[in-house]
Amino acid sequence: MIRIALVQYTPVYGRKSQNLEAISRIIEGIEADVVVFPELCTTGYFFTSKEELATLAEGTDGEAAMMFRAAAVSKRAIIVAGMAEASGGHLFNSAFVFRPEGGEPLVYRKSHLFYLEPLVFEPGDTGFPVIRDERLDLYLGIMLCYDWRFPEAARCLALDGADIIVCPSNLVTDAWMKVMPARAIENKVFVAVANRTGSETKGDETLVFKGRTALYDPWGEAILQAGPTGDSVLVVGIDPAAARDKRFNDRNDIFLDRRPELYGRLIRR
Ligand code: ACM
Repeated sequence: MIRIALVQYTPVYGRKSQNLEAISRIIEGIEADVVVFPELCTTGYFFTSKEELATLAEGTDGEAAMMFRAAAVSKRAIIVAGMAEASGGHLFNSAFVFRPEGGEPLVYRKSHLFYLEPLVFEPGDTGFPVIRDERLDLYLGIMLCYDWRFPEAARCLALDGADIIVCPSNLVTDAWMKVMPARAIENKVFVAVANRTGSETKGDETLVFKGRTALYDPWGEAILQAGPTGDSVLVVGIDPAAARDKRFNDRNDIFLDRRPELYGRLIRR
């Protein structure tokens, strides 16, 4: 069994050092093979000024990255954390993946930007990565929050062999609670949603983050789910073999039954 820890965590907006201290204490208490933090966990979410966000965003050798990198090595865990990335004069809403062997984190840049995010972030250009961990014999796919709305994201990850799709999130609506389990069922994969709680106000607008961090199995059942408020850490054991058998019954296999030659029409003209 592979132990997956999902952290439901509420960062303080704009207070990176304070958030890194809190995150470091949380990691200290976790025993797991894979640890997933929410989207933008070091900075908070509701940025509308590039100048403000640029003071907090960082590259793969920044302060937060160095902290996570050391933690991944000392805890012998893969750590996935949503962070604001600064690269080549641009800002991306990214997920950094830190490995127990150390070294540069892999970076996934959010493909589908939500609501006011385009004011500060560039759309991601990395595609959807699947990471192979030899020691765990695990294929880990990455997407971020609003990527849930696009079945193509999870499908690409599943077709590339993901056993589990991890989705650092800052979810502010409710439909995902129906759709994330569907992403698990339609691809027969585990889906791990690490969401935040709390709220952030900009001007006269307040965003409320919905919590309910959850691990869905390949049949769409929530094996474990947190409540809508409060910080918590869920630790769940998964067997990746459950995601590799794509049979639906004795005669159907949901991947072998696909008809990709008919799907080209999905590209909008
Ligand atoms: C979201 O993509 N943060 C809803």
